[in-house]
Amino acid sequence: MDPKRIRNFSIIAHIDHGKSTIADRMLEVTGTIDKRVMKEQVLDNLELERERGITIKSVPVRMDYTAPDGERYVLNLIDTPGHVDFGYEVSRSLAACEGALLVVDAAQGVEAQTLANAYKAIDLDLEIVPVLNKIDLPSARPDEIRKEIEDVVGLDASNAVLASAKNGIGIDEALAQLVALVPPPTGEAEGPLRALVFDSVYDNYRGIICYIRVVDGEIKAGDSVLFMATGRRYTVEEVGAFKPKLTPMESLGVGEVGYITASIKTLDEARVGDTLTLNDRPAKTPLPGYQMVKPVVYCGFYPVDREEYPQLRDALEKLKLNDASLEFEPENSTALGFGFRCGFLGLLHMDITRERLQREFDVQLVATAPNVVYRIVTKKGKEIEAHRPSDYPEVGDVDSVSEPYIRLTVYVPSDYVGKVMQLSQEKRGVFVSMDYLTPERARAVYDIPLAEFIVDYYDRLQSVSRGYASLDYEPVGFRESDLVKVDVLINHDPVDAFSFICHQDDAYHRGHSAVKKLKDLIPRQMFEVPIQASVGKKVIVRSNVKALRKDVLAKCYGGDITRKRKLLEKQKKGKDKMKMIGKVSIPPDAFMSFLDMD
Ligand code: GTP
Repeated sequence: MDPKRIRNFSIIAHIDHGKSTIADRMLEVTGTIDKRVMKEQVLDNLELERERGITIKSVPVRMDYTAPDGERYVLNLIDTPGHVDFGYEVSRSLAACEGALLVVDAAQGVEAQTLANAYKAIDLDLEIVPVLNKIDLPSARPDEIRKEIEDVVGLDASNAVLASAKNGIGIDEALAQLVALVPPPTGEAEGPLRALVFDSVYDNYRGIICYIRVVDGEIKAGDSVLFMATGRRYTVEEVGAFKPKLTPMESLGVGEVGYITASIKTLDEARVGDTLTLNDRPAKTPLPGYQMVKPVVYCGFYPVDREEYPQLRDALEKLKLNDASLEFEPENSTALGFGFRCGFLGLLHMDITRERLQREFDVQLVATAPNVVYRIVTKKGKEIEAHRPSDYPEVGDVDSVSEPYIRLTVYVPSDYVGKVMQLSQEKRGVFVSMDYLTPERARAVYDIPLAEFIVDYYDRLQSVSRGYASLDYEPVGFRESDLVKVDVLINHDPVDAFSFICHQDDAYHRGHSAVKKLKDLIPRQMFEVPIQASVGKKVIVRSNVKALRKDVLAKCYGGDITRKRKLLEKQKKGKDKMKMIGKVSIPPDAFMSFLDMD
């Protein structure tokens, strides 16, 4: 395939601005998918993706297109995930392209959440083709929005395509502009093979399918290949393209997008961002930007019904097949029994995993509050990595604690700058810089502890900026902080699942709310039950659940002994279901209400 006839592009859009509808229309116009069999939004294939309107997995598709000049082209549309948790996948998908279609709703205008992705595309030097969608709406204001794109994103929008994906208007023009403006891929056809793995998925029958973009050289079935980051070697079994069904081809050359299979068993062997080269003629340097993605947020998943533990384990194993960034290991909690400690890329990733477990695998579960990884150095000089509060050593043994920080970049209309700064400072953010992209739009940069960010930063940012802020972040390593572990004690017994790590200044406040919540959840017992929050041996908050004497026999008038016995048995049975913390019996759902984040 002559690279001059190839165009590789992505579509960037704010949620609901019409990305999927435009992609669907392109598939129709190019005859890639028959209109009659066209299922709405072919590209968003996970049920959850559809419902939440977010793209989690990138699905590429190859289209044949005849341009207005009569020349035939191959267009590869590479879909990108739309959320910051998947930022790395976004940048890898974009790195496989030379251009991007920037779709903006002509009524709503430029909105913040996709700005970060637009800047990613600009950073990668992609040619950006602006499209104003939904011009059929009476409220469409194409001229104003054009100006907004110029002012806020900084792109020339004078020739922006006017489109209505709904009515099929402007699709041809968008395709024509893509061909005219996006440069064809360049690479060395004779050079040693270099192909970017921009995604990989698990298939029941073929094992891992790697989605690749060839930069230099050529790849075909039978080639012996090397993954440069992992150092693994395989023999390619099949090479093909997405039409959009996987269709075998002879080979893939410079600039082409397609897939390979090679009896690869797990995603860990074929990581997103890795460079594929030939075993006997390897490239000297890999393509730029490979990064090992590691979970940054951890939480515990426990089955509501303890009998469902094996199902939960099987379900996690199945999810892991298609999600290299998901981590899990068994853990055991006094309060919740057997479950798993799971690691995620971020909160959305956690939420999605949890929902898929419940929906696709029908496992009802409790998720404990999320936490980050802490690095602790003990007085004896030992280094500990804590994935959960119970990994934390005794207070007296701790020499120093470090927590992960992120560099947070917030794009926000100038009017809201003050509020964003206030919020970031409240979250222990350290000011880095601030500048104005236009008089109306500012960029504020803060280094903030990830732990503070994951609590509710994103939601609060959206609320203080009325949804107009967008953010992006990257990890900037670990920094020392004054952190303490707060234990929660019921009748003087610490309950592992309830303890948490927080900044010293927040210990009282957070301890107080935990104690208060538990006080409301724990039923009265035969005796008074103290509930306390402590740091080490020092109690910082205390409250009591008052005693109650519940006399089950009181209702039994007369002397019917069988009836009395029945009642006593019933009470005993009820107790069996209770969870005992020391001598305090607690209904299991109290734990769940306390720990569950909903
Ligand atoms: P996410 O998948 O949520 O990121 O959204 P998206 O950008 O893919 O948007 P999608 O294509 O799902 O469109 C969002 C909504 O806008 C849907 O209800 C579409 O039917 C509607 N829509 C898309 N294009 C047009 C258009 O040209 N005109 C009108 N009136 N509605 C449109």
